[in-house]
Amino acid sequence: MALPEAFIRELVARNDIESVASSYVSMKRRGRNLVGLCPFHGEKTPSFNLYPETESFYCFGCGAGGDVITFIKRIENLDYIDAVKFLASRAGMQLPEEQVDDKTSRLRMRILEANREAARFFHSQLSKPEGRIALDYYRRRGYTDATIRHFGLGYAPNAWDELGKHLRSKGFRDEELQAAFLTRRGRNGGSYDIFRNRAMIPIIDIRGAVIGFGGRVLDDSKPKYINTESTLAFSKSNTLFALNFAKSTGRELTLCEGYMDVIALHQAGFPNAVAALGTAFPEEQVRLISRYADKVNLIFDADEAGQKATRRALDALKPTGIEVKVITVPDGKDPDEFIRKNGPERFRLLLERASNAMEYRLMRLGDRYPLNTADGRVNYLREAAKVLAQSSAVEQDIYAGRLSQELSVSKDAILQQIRQAAGRREKQQKRQELSRAVKQDMTILRRVNPEAETFPRAASAEETLLGVMILHPDLIPKVAAVLSADQFVTSLNRDLYAYLLQRQSQGLLIELPFFAADFDEASMAYITRMVQAAKDRAFTWEDAEKYIAIIREGQVLRGMKQPESLQNDQIEDILRVMRDRKNKKDI
Ligand code: CTP
Ligand code: MN
Repeated sequence: MALPEAFIRELVARNDIESVASSYVSMKRRGRNLVGLCPFHGEKTPSFNLYPETESFYCFGCGAGGDVITFIKRIENLDYIDAVKFLASRAGMQLPEEQVDDKTSRLRMRILEANREAARFFHSQLSKPEGRIALDYYRRRGYTDATIRHFGLGYAPNAWDELGKHLRSKGFRDEELQAAFLTRRGRNGGSYDIFRNRAMIPIIDIRGAVIGFGGRVLDDSKPKYINTESTLAFSKSNTLFALNFAKSTGRELTLCEGYMDVIALHQAGFPNAVAALGTAFPEEQVRLISRYADKVNLIFDADEAGQKATRRALDALKPTGIEVKVITVPDGKDPDEFIRKNGPERFRLLLERASNAMEYRLMRLGDRYPLNTADGRVNYLREAAKVLAQSSAVEQDIYAGRLSQELSVSKDAILQQIRQAAGRREKQQKRQELSRAVKQDMTILRRVNPEAETFPRAASAEETLLGVMILHPDLIPKVAAVLSADQFVTSLNRDLYAYLLQRQSQGLLIELPFFAADFDEASMAYITRMVQAAKDRAFTWEDAEKYIAIIREGQVLRGMKQPESLQNDQIEDILRVMRDRKNKKDI
């Protein structure tokens, strides 16, 4: 999709990367650049670099990199167009008309419309005889009519094509319904509904759009839930169920495991409950949570899976500085069951008695050691010191005091053990970060430009040359006169070179933010890295010639290693280079 160049140029000019990124990352100036803790992965030592001169960023820890548009794409989890819109509205710019209705966003709109109509359809089934079974189910769970209406709950009929038929009659096309994850094409070419004979729970985003559904069986059959899979309108990882209601209740969220817990909590007077629709807690979801909350109560099922999820959530939320409390529901119940049995008031007591993250960890740890024996206490304290080593000095002091009393061990001894653990931990972390950075770099390399590993010398010459050309586009015609794209050894670099030549010949600007429309994120990171590396080099035309020679040599090497990859005129090229080389040796 083509955005007017002048528009992008102005967009980038009005959104300088330094001020955009500073609202997400706190950075310190280091020379001409800025460094900070990377917002795209958890780290302790800063490896996120911002380069104001090239309007780009690169993280040496996780390999994220690119221009300001790529940055917004990643951090706000948007596609290219939405990232552009985001920056446009940040800078108070009007979007040119034609982009708004490009094909993808039109399909996305249709999906949202189909979902809304589907939600209406499912809900309306509840007042029909066929929907009675679902209404009874909701009533058995104790849901009032008001709750059913509030959440727009419904029923997907026990039939193959009821929803499909209904939506087609409203003008939706099969492709749209399939793209919405509402129907599928059957083996006979017909269409069938994905959700059948299920209690239907619409998932609504913060703008009030129905973006997907959870469908629960009405009995004990399997699978218990069918959920909308990724569509243009829905991604599990940047959704929190019921955030549309919870977002305006204040800056505290109660995070539970499932739809049913959330619905029960809202009905019981806790409208700040949301569900993560999974226990992975990806970064996007953590960002979403921190946008709406300063305090989070975790209330997961008491089973092993729930405890695991609690630990994962604690880890994921830790870097955000959000105040996290853990609520343990007694007797192995989930919050939904607890409220049904004991009522909202007892639940409020649970909330008040919630433990903070450290108390929760120490408590879990305590379960694993016999604290009435000396050995048990020694082992427990060793592990507890490791946990406390990650916390602030004040926390260490407070908990060392508590543990000292509980276990009758001197506070000084405990503090000393914590300091030792902290030292070991720091050393280990530094090593890990380094090896991860190195590995990550290799992974990116392998993924976006696999041949670079086979032809490292040529690839590195290509990258320097390309980086320099992007920084000094006036070099492009000079290089173009002596080097054609198919002489490049590695494919990403070859594509990038051809792309530069094309932009140059069309008189288009050679600047990273324009590339983001045509290269994916990983390639953008790779390209940014090469530009940045080239920046720190003094460069003359002789240098360029040296790199061109290395690329030609690389071509020879590739010819020998992969003769099948060559075309006839390339073979002639290679022969010429080899002759030249021989002559040089003879001199
Ligand atoms: N889940 C899912 N698919 C499954 C099981 C669970 O997507 N097969 C997700 C759902 O989001 C569900 C959450 O995990 O809400 C929690 O699962 P579970 O506790 O089993 O379900 P509940 O919603 O609590 O349902 P119920 O109370 O009826 O058992
Ligand atoms: Mn449940």
